[in-house]
Amino acid sequence: MGEVNAGAANAAQDNLIPTVKYTIAVSSGKGGVGKSTVAVNLAVGLALQGARVGLMDADVYGPNVPMMMGVRTPPQQKDGKLLPAESHGVKLISMGFFVPEETPLTWRGPMIHTAIQQFLRDVEWGELDYLLIDLPPGTGDAQLSIGQLVPLTGAVIVTTPQAVALHDSRKGLAMFQKINVPVLGIIENMSFFICGKCGERTEIFSTGGGERAAEKLGVPFLGRIPIDPAIRVGSDNGMPIVVADPASPQAQAFMNICSMISSRIRGAACETDSPKPIESLLQKIKRPLGGK
Ligand SMILES: Nc1ncnc2c1ncn2[C@@H]1O[C@H](COP(=O)(O)OP(=O)(O)OP(=O)(O)O)[C@@H](O)[C@H]1O
Ligand SMILES: [Mg+2]
Ligand SMILES: [Zn+2]
Repeated sequence: MGEVNAGAANAAQDNLIPTVKYTIAVSSGKGGVGKSTVAVNLAVGLALQGARVGLMDADVYGPNVPMMMGVRTPPQQKDGKLLPAESHGVKLISMGFFVPEETPLTWRGPMIHTAIQQFLRDVEWGELDYLLIDLPPGTGDAQLSIGQLVPLTGAVIVTTPQAVALHDSRKGLAMFQKINVPVLGIIENMSFFICGKCGERTEIFSTGGGERAAEKLGVPFLGRIPIDPAIRVGSDNGMPIVVADPASPQAQAFMNICSMISSRIRGAACETDSPKPIESLLQKIKRPLGGK
């Protein structure tokens, strides 16, 4: 489709994370739509599919990813570098390791910029296929500044199926367009309910909001995640559903989205047999499909 690119063209001037192949922002226009839950399950899911994955929790306001990932040991220092924590096969850095809970919200905003810089420069990520970034909710200055600091391959937008989804997604899309980051697609979370007893599927909200939003905005629809107590319980216990119950339809929904994301990114990258996929993708963007 041609919109997958390195996205870094106008972003970070120096690549602070040269050992990371693809950087994906997980974002949402609104808070509480399950962005962190999605980020965690996609990160662990991609690792289960054999990729080398890092997860950066850049949400200073509610950095709950360490809890969701079941991390007990904070990152360690080694030779002036920070070694990320590790859980379920994913390397993890979170604002939650560094920002004391009592830090006033008004102080947190300005901390984002420098903290992100350090998360890129001072963390020993090692060779990674994917670095997922859980962005703070919203489409304000903080998100823009992160988008400019991090050389993003693309962004996924998480919504819920209510009527506002389209409006929120449009704002999200506009923000990423502004900083020249391609939107990989929209994920609809808390989409439908599968009865634990009989397996019957119930559409709680009007169905297909995320799909319609994607269609209207001209971006891919990546899939729907059911609303399910097991997903919340998994997050609360540090056992994401993709590891807690991998055979469940809930976990499968996440795994399918992982496959969609990696095939979109790798598909675009592997068409040329280049050892530097990001550069080849950039070339692709400059030369429209079919052109020379
Ligand atoms: N598909 C789901 N089914 C059931 N519960 C879910 C689902 N997705 C998220 N939740 C629950 O909803 C709550 C909010 O999710 P989460 O923290 O991931 O949202 P968020 O968008 O990251 O929020 P914030 O804006 O505060 O960062 C959590 O308690 C989480 O466990
Ligand atoms: Mg969150
Ligand atoms: Zn039932």
